[in-house]
Amino acid sequence: MYNMGLLGLGTVGTGTADILLNTAGRNPLLQKIQIKKAGVRSLDKQRQVELPADVLTTDLESVVTDPDIDIVVELMGGLEPARSLILQAIAHGKHIVTANKAVIARYGDEIYTAANEAGVYVLIEAAVGGGIPIIKPLKQSLGVNRIQRVIGIVNGTTNYILTQMTAHGADFADVLKEAQELGYAEADPTADVDGWDAADKISILTSIAFAGRVKRESVHCEGIRQITATEINYAEKLGFVIKLLAIAEKMSLDSDELQIRVHPTLVAKEHPLASINGVYNAILVEGAPLGQVMFYGPGAGSGPTASAVVSDIMNIVGILESSGKTKNLDPLLSCSHQHYCTLQPIEELVTRFYARFLCYDVPGVIGHLGTSFGNHQVSLESVVQIGFKDKLAEIVVVTHDVKEGNFRKALAEIESLDAIQSIPSVLRVL
Ligand code: HSE
Repeated sequence: MYNMGLLGLGTVGTGTADILLNTAGRNPLLQKIQIKKAGVRSLDKQRQVELPADVLTTDLESVVTDPDIDIVVELMGGLEPARSLILQAIAHGKHIVTANKAVIARYGDEIYTAANEAGVYVLIEAAVGGGIPIIKPLKQSLGVNRIQRVIGIVNGTTNYILTQMTAHGADFADVLKEAQELGYAEADPTADVDGWDAADKISILTSIAFAGRVKRESVHCEGIRQITATEINYAEKLGFVIKLLAIAEKMSLDSDELQIRVHPTLVAKEHPLASINGVYNAILVEGAPLGQVMFYGPGAGSGPTASAVVSDIMNIVGILESSGKTKNLDPLLSCSHQHYCTLQPIEELVTRFYARFLCYDVPGVIGHLGTSFGNHQVSLESVVQIGFKDKLAEIVVVTHDVKEGNFRKALAEIESLDAIQSIPSVLRVL
């Protein structure tokens, strides 16, 4: 038997225990795993899963230091004490399974260095995309490819909000409130709506797809608070939907430089990511010689996330069964890179842009816009003057591929023009 120590018995912890207590019809390896201890905040809470009373403990350190425990499963979330407990468990020779994207994105370097020295695994399938298998496929099934691009819809809350805004022409604040009432959005939605959760996840995906560590604070991150029903409507008229995308891409095949970014993006309606709706997640991976492959499924929730957690536990048990408790880590499951990826500043990004301008209705406005764009090598794909808003002309443009730095300089010049009242929205186009 292999002994497991659980840290956290909330939604995902409960789903995890439920799978391990109901193994019929599942891989027989699961019958070799027992929950020896479950560290919880309170012993008095009503639980949806039945564990013997002596398994539960509020002494979290006793879980990570117990000499009989082989695998520690951290499902508490948050940075501390999760980080310290993971490091302590590693120091005591435990393998780790965690769903904690925030800790891995920020402290992956420290955690994997410690794990490699201790000869233990840190598996994180549940940290990105909930139940969608993406970490192990990237490491193993797709490992022979040169990855060029990973594009994900990796946050269910924001995808739900944008989907509802698109379906009902509703504004952000109203949909957020409704999502909170339905339990889809947290009372404090900051990590989701400001893109931080997606930035954690793309940092992790980048590190695996491009085999280099990533400084989480270097990831360019914009959320969806500024998206209005007006933008959704214009996008729809132009043949796009708006999605919060997390993107990591190699800017050219002969360079090591990467662009990593999270921002709301106009996605052509016929693109495979455009039809990922509601709380679902999808990750599109592009590499050579593979081409494109897309992973799709439930990105959160007790059962789906627990499915990923327990498959990691099962993988560790499979290795322990076949090779015993050796210190030789399987390079296809452990972290075998030490260097940091080189990131390109966002100003160097080459992409298309959508921008909406409110202009005074004077002759030659479009000419002024065109001149400023031309001054900074910004070429326009389309200019759509759709109408008037409070006596102001509303002009929407979509550019060709341009360098972000040039586009921003053009915008600064345009903003200073007398004919321009404001630039309410600037979005990138996939
Ligand atoms: N808060 C996340 C989301 C789920 O909305 O997708 C957990 O990763």
